[in-house]
Amino acid sequence: MLETLRRFRSFLAPYRGRLAVGAFCTLGSSALTLLQPWPLKVIVDNVLRGKPIHVPFVSVTGWSRAELLDGAIVAFVALVLLGALFDYAGTYLMDSSGVRMVADVREALFAHLQRHSLRFHATQRTGDLISRVMSDIGRIQDMLIQSFSVLIPNVALLVGMMTVMFLIDWSFTLIALAVGPPLFLLIFVYKRRIKGASRRARQLEGRLAAHTGEVLGAVRVVQAFTREDFEEERFSRQSSSTLGANLEATRLQARFSPLVDIIAGLGTAIVLFVGTHRVLSGQLSLGLLLVFLSYLGSLYKPMRQLSKLTYVSAKGVASAERVSEILDAEPDVQDLPGAVAAPRLRGHVRLENVEYAYAPGRPVLHEIELDVEPGQVVAVVGPSGAGKSTFVSLLPRFFDPQRGRVLLDGRDVRTIRLRSLRSQIAIVPQEPLLFDGSIFDNIAYGRAEAREQDVLEAARLALVDDFVRALPDGYDTMLGERGASLSGGERQRISIARAIVRDAPVLVLDEPTSNLDPVSERLLVDALARLLEGRTAFVIAHRMSTVARADQVLVFDGGRIVERGKHDELMQIPGGVYRSFLDLQLGGAAATPISSRRRWRAGR
Ligand SMILES: Nc1ncnc2c1ncn2[C@@H]1O[C@H](COP(=O)(O)OP(=O)(O)OP(=O)(O)O)[C@@H](O)[C@H]1O
Ligand SMILES: [Mg+2]
Repeated sequence: MLETLRRFRSFLAPYRGRLAVGAFCTLGSSALTLLQPWPLKVIVDNVLRGKPIHVPFVSVTGWSRAELLDGAIVAFVALVLLGALFDYAGTYLMDSSGVRMVADVREALFAHLQRHSLRFHATQRTGDLISRVMSDIGRIQDMLIQSFSVLIPNVALLVGMMTVMFLIDWSFTLIALAVGPPLFLLIFVYKRRIKGASRRARQLEGRLAAHTGEVLGAVRVVQAFTREDFEEERFSRQSSSTLGANLEATRLQARFSPLVDIIAGLGTAIVLFVGTHRVLSGQLSLGLLLVFLSYLGSLYKPMRQLSKLTYVSAKGVASAERVSEILDAEPDVQDLPGAVAAPRLRGHVRLENVEYAYAPGRPVLHEIELDVEPGQVVAVVGPSGAGKSTFVSLLPRFFDPQRGRVLLDGRDVRTIRLRSLRSQIAIVPQEPLLFDGSIFDNIAYGRAEAREQDVLEAARLALVDDFVRALPDGYDTMLGERGASLSGGERQRISIARAIVRDAPVLVLDEPTSNLDPVSERLLVDALARLLEGRTAFVIAHRMSTVARADQVLVFDGGRIVERGKHDELMQIPGGVYRSFLDLQLGGAAATPISSRRRWRAGR
């Protein structure tokens, strides 16, 4: 657990002051608890048995027994009240620091997650990440609060009591503490086992959360294929293995506390036996035996509390590992040292001998060479899976190529700060991804400082205006999760408007019109043509209407550029890939998207 604290040291730093004051109060409260049995000793030894009394700092010689009793009671009440006050201040200061610190960790975790590359996110399940941000953080919080309010005071109490006991009678103390070693052995063994079990449980819970998220996200498919029973069964299978791991941890914990009680009880029996003998033989006063017994009772209490803490901290440590896994992972797309913010780019794009592989040894892009002048419109065509989306992902550095370089205005993109690079590229992704917010906000998302008129203008250009006018709430219409309340084509148009608002010198449109009817498509292509003026644009398209206007057409197949040139030039190549692609469209139903490789091949 100390390791965990060290790991999160930087998060603790801002609360050092509060924590120090809190720790001081807690220690004060422990010291007062330590003093609490002493008035009892005075009552037993001096009031009841009439022994002469000696109290440090206070002169009580000559007090009657009744006065001594009053004094002892007053002292006792004062100790209790003061102790409570310190306890309150200490607990509040330390626990609130813990809660705040954990909130900071949660924010840092979220910030870090967002900045991880798409490659990282492709290998993680969203639900699992969510469970790290939510429940794992919660467990770390439990652990911190417990360790502040249980560990510190109880360790202080333990140390204090043992010291006082040693001062009173060291040999007796040794006997009383004989149970210590077996107790610690027990704690050690159980802590490891509980930690193992809860680590497993957390992993499985993360998987369960991921699974739930995926099924609910695709509930339309589940219902369409009537796979509810199948999903229920899958869920309950995963849920029961999670349950198993959690039960294991609970079982260990349940067994652990009684074991501690047994050991503590044995200790008390020994002390009672030996202590009574000593009182009988006059080696020890009855009052001191009572002090001893009361310490021992409260000595075992902190031990038990600490053993409870074992459980919470074992769970917390397992969770902290899961959080650290994310915090410690370096994002694989990073600024090179010395990267600078670029001024507004002109949009000259060059790729030199670029190779990219998602999985090592299996490149999906080979030897990509490319030179695009500022302001050119490049159409990218090719069968499904040819690598088109991957290719355009290299420009904003969603991925870095394993070989070769990507240059913007003559600079390696890695020497431009990521923020600055991405601020100059507007993207319409293949899947229009929208947020649960108003239509207006979804468009304005493209640029933080966008003005209202920019947003409305973009909406008009992207033909969003057409369908928004029919909505009762207009641009304030709320979209629901992922824009669920709109049709595919409507989502796509909002996604285009969002890119327009960005006003970037480089535009990437990944099949911007795939969900539109031919009429809307024609209108949008006209609108886009105006937009593309003066900007470098990459348009992935399957349709003739977009491709024919491009300054350059790149034909991808199997991760390579197999043909390139203007539309007219490519049409001249007899039996060429491009030509057969368009022939198929013109010969068959015009403007049919080529969606499968097999179909395309058949056209050759
Ligand atoms: N995250 C990923 N991890 C591993 N492989 C991937 C990943 N994304 C894409 N691929 C693979 O890379 C290849 C190129 O994919 P890409 O998405 O670039 O194709 P595309 O040309 O855009 O196809 P489409 O026209 O269907 O959109 C495909 O074989 C695909 O299976
Ligand atoms: Mg694609």
